Amino acid sequence: MVFNFPCLGFLILCTALITTNCVLGFSSKGLPISSFNESFFRLYGNNRVIFLDNEGKSVQISLDKSSGSGFLSQDMYLHSYFSASIKLPGNYTAGVVVTFYTSNGDEYKTNHDEIDFEFLGHVRGKPWLVQTNIYGNGSTNRGREERYNLWFDPTQDFHTYSILWTSKWIVFYVDEVPIRVVQKVDAMGGDFPSKAMTLFATIWDGSAWATSGGKHKVNYKYAPFLAKYSNFVLYGCSLDPIQKELAAEKCGSATDLSTFNGLTTEEKSKMMKFRMKNLIYSYCNDRSRYPIPLPECIVKRKL
Ligand SMILES: *[C@@H]1O[C@H](CO)[C@@H](O)[C@H](O)[C@H]1NC(C)=O
Ligand SMILES: *[C@@H]1O[C@H](CO)[C@@H](O)[C@H](O)[C@H]1NC(C)=O
Ligand SMILES: *[C@@H]1O[C@H](CO)[C@@H](O)[C@H](O)[C@H]1NC(C)=O
Repeated sequence: MVFNFPCLGFLILCTALITTNCVLGFSSKGLPISSFNESFFRLYGNNRVIFLDNEGKSVQISLDKSSGSGFLSQDMYLHSYFSASIKLPGNYTAGVVVTFYTSNGDEYKTNHDEIDFEFLGHVRGKPWLVQTNIYGNGSTNRGREERYNLWFDPTQDFHTYSILWTSKWIVFYVDEVPIRVVQKVDAMGGDFPSKAMTLFATIWDGSAWATSGGKHKVNYKYAPFLAKYSNFVLYGCSLDPIQKELAAEKCGSATDLSTFNGLTTEEKSKMMKFRMKNLIYSYCNDRSRYPIPLPECIVKRKL
């Protein structure tokens, strides 16, 4: 007998009926780690993308006066769990932007989708800031930024940053603590990312805006700025990189992405604790920018 009731969004039903349509929480335990050569290509700043170990599981990208650098996934993914351990450049990094994000801007110039982790530089002695953001179908005039402090110094060690993206949910995690959840609501329309995307990691000069709104620029006296990435997980439904949308996606073992239905109670409480302490800015609370909050913000406050 196979139970296959659709989840109605009620926590009690969800926990009572373990059906394929209704699963809380996502476990990244045991997901395969990719090497750079298996999963990525260099994007730019060629000789600034270097291997840190013999197996190519860890790479370093850097920014100096003449260029930044970056890499991108070989495949595009429609729904995925992406994760990397990242160690950010230390010392004085004002204006330096380090990213870990998904985008399809090359394929869809006017209606692209994007899900971002962005590290916004650091003036010595000030806390590091992390920003998350989402665009869907070219909604670039409706930024959905949030900014947070971290509870550790991200330049001292590797920490894990992860993005879970399903047809209905986006979750950002830091060291497996969910820090932000976006649940798709119908009123979002195309603003919820819905087309296959590539995973990117870059380091670049964001002097114009990154640190305190551009007040602190990159100081190349401290260059090169080095960002290290390791433990790549690219788990999801990949498309053929040549045929892209034409090819059927291959979800492989990643069927749990379609059954994910939100955080567990324990995860929600961890997220609340994180956000009470570390959330600095959320577009949901910015009434001067959005006198009427964007539709998903209403749901969000209930979480
Ligand atoms: C990765 O690929 C490059 C280019 O083909 C090769 O030179 C390098 O040895 C490979 N590295 C690893 C760790 O497999
Ligand atoms: C996405 O944008 C395209 C082009 O602007 C438009 O034709 C399409 O209807 C949009 N899709 C959604 C779901 O809003
Ligand atoms: C920070 O940069 C300055 C100037 O380049 C250098 O003298 C100092 O040793 C650096 N400190 C660390 C901890 O790397």
